[in-house]
Amino acid sequence: MSAMLTSLDAATDRQWIRLHERLAGISDKHPDAVFASSLGVEDMLLAHAIFEAGLPIEVFTLDTGRLHPETLALAGRIRERYGVTVNMVQPDPAAVKKHVDEHGAFAFYESIDLRKACCGIRKVEPLRRALRGRSAWLTGQRREQSLTRTELAESEFDAAFGLQKYNPLASWTLEQVWEIVHALDVPYNPLHEQGYPSIGCEPCTRAIRPGEDVRAGRWWWEQKLSKECGLHAGQVKN
Ligand code: ADX
Ligand code: SF4
Repeated sequence: MSAMLTSLDAATDRQWIRLHERLAGISDKHPDAVFASSLGVEDMLLAHAIFEAGLPIEVFTLDTGRLHPETLALAGRIRERYGVTVNMVQPDPAAVKKHVDEHGAFAFYESIDLRKACCGIRKVEPLRRALRGRSAWLTGQRREQSLTRTELAESEFDAAFGLQKYNPLASWTLEQVWEIVHALDVPYNPLHEQGYPSIGCEPCTRAIRPGEDVRAGRWWWEQKLSKECGLHAGQVKN
């Protein structure tokens, strides 16, 4: 693996080799492990490592119904590049309709409670469904991403969903992620080059200005501490 990547910085090369070892270990230990991909750049790197190694880890995306077209297009690019179909997990249409009928299609701007209710319907319940019956899941979270992730473990028991959770990129820097993405020509969301380091649902994500925190564009109208959607509720801090 490293032989192909001689142009890499030595530390990144070591991270890359270690990542493959970790992923193979997770897959051996949990043949039913699933990978939750937001289709962001970290997750595209993980997808590349998993699919090129032929590991039997299934991948799903929570298709909230409010993702950018650029994000949705990446599922097709994964199919073309790796021959793998991303399982697009949709929210319960009746729950979405009820919420929109009662509160409108943009209620998330009105209050934190309504925003969390929307995330609950469009993300958390579908995630619970996607994880049901599994013994482990993988995410692309990194410690550097947010003050709430500084103590992120590489492996932890997810008490909220009742299974093991792996964050194999926990110690990676964003520079290392991009170094490999460019070196291996991994597909990525063009929005990353238009001021979107972190991409969630379209109405809840804006581009950031130079110097702003990388997550400043997520739920930007809220205070920092309320900014979580419930996907990572089982972590010590999040
Ligand atoms: S979030 O909690 O604020 O939305 P973030 O966008 O940083 O999370 O992504 C962190 C990790 O959560 C991703 O690497 C991915 O594993 C998971 N994740 C986030 N959004 C989705 C999604 N729509 N579908 C699947 N997994 C997701
Ligand atoms: Fe709803 Fe916004 Fe949460 Fe997406 S991020 S589920 S649109 S509140």
